[in-house]
Amino acid sequence: MESGYQIESRPKLGYRLLGSPDLLFPHELESLKSSLVGRRIEHRERADSTQRVAKQLALEGAEEGTVVVAEVQTAGKGRRGRRWFSPPGGIYLSIILRPQLEPPRVPLLTLLGGVAVAKALRRGCGLKPKLKWPNDVLLGGKKVGGVLTEVCAEAEVINHCVLGVGVNANFGVSQLPRSIRETSTTLLEELGRPVQRLRLAREVLEQVDRLYKGIRKPNKILEEWRSLDCTRGAWVRVDGAQGVFEGRALGINSNGALIVRLPSGDVKKILAGDVSIKLKGS
Ligand code: BTN
Repeated sequence: MESGYQIESRPKLGYRLLGSPDLLFPHELESLKSSLVGRRIEHRERADSTQRVAKQLALEGAEEGTVVVAEVQTAGKGRRGRRWFSPPGGIYLSIILRPQLEPPRVPLLTLLGGVAVAKALRRGCGLKPKLKWPNDVLLGGKKVGGVLTEVCAEAEVINHCVLGVGVNANFGVSQLPRSIRETSTTLLEELGRPVQRLRLAREVLEQVDRLYKGIRKPNKILEEWRSLDCTRGAWVRVDGAQGVFEGRALGINSNGALIVRLPSGDVKKILAGDVSIKLKGS
């Protein structure tokens, strides 16, 4: 592939760089200020899923902080076995982490990912996203990004985790399947102009790095997540391992689980599942 850099050639004066392509090349991303996340960047023009590539690298012993980034995914993975549609123009990356964390605390990594994306959108694009438990990044109530955490653990020990981030950036919602168009948005739709994906991807990695440093004392992550939460206080429908039910979301506990009060008054702790926000009675 052509590198896509626009270069003006001026006789005797040499070359002048007019602009660089908006591709997520490793040498552009590697200038990260961060200390751990992004130490090694693996760039693919096309991957089936950056999660799969990152998990393979992790099994082969890739160092913590390694990032796999792709311009396009042909089999992007979402939560709960769903697909993540990944046309050109989006941000698709997976980060290998080896946290010293008890397995019940793994949901904190998903929350960390959501906070990182929300902060990056704020800093990089001036937007004010909200988070819906556990991992949806929303703009105006529509999903613009998601986080997928996959863990390889043995008994009480985590071998590695792969934290995947997808952001609908420089494409229109018409690129997404009809079934999710109503509930999804993209940065292009919201801003009316393309964003600098490189800047945004860098910002995401820097934010993950910042938050990951505090993963063993997660109060800061929980506090930041709570400040972005649009679920708390809402009437929600939960579809998870414990079945489908509705109730009032009371917020998250210190492990990142969602606490919901049922109409009966009973309180449930949700570790995994889908949550939709309802108007009571609808
Ligand atoms: C979700 O909201 O369901 C999670 C979406 C996670 C998508 C990202 S894109 C980069 C990484 N590679 C994948 O195949 N999935 C994650």
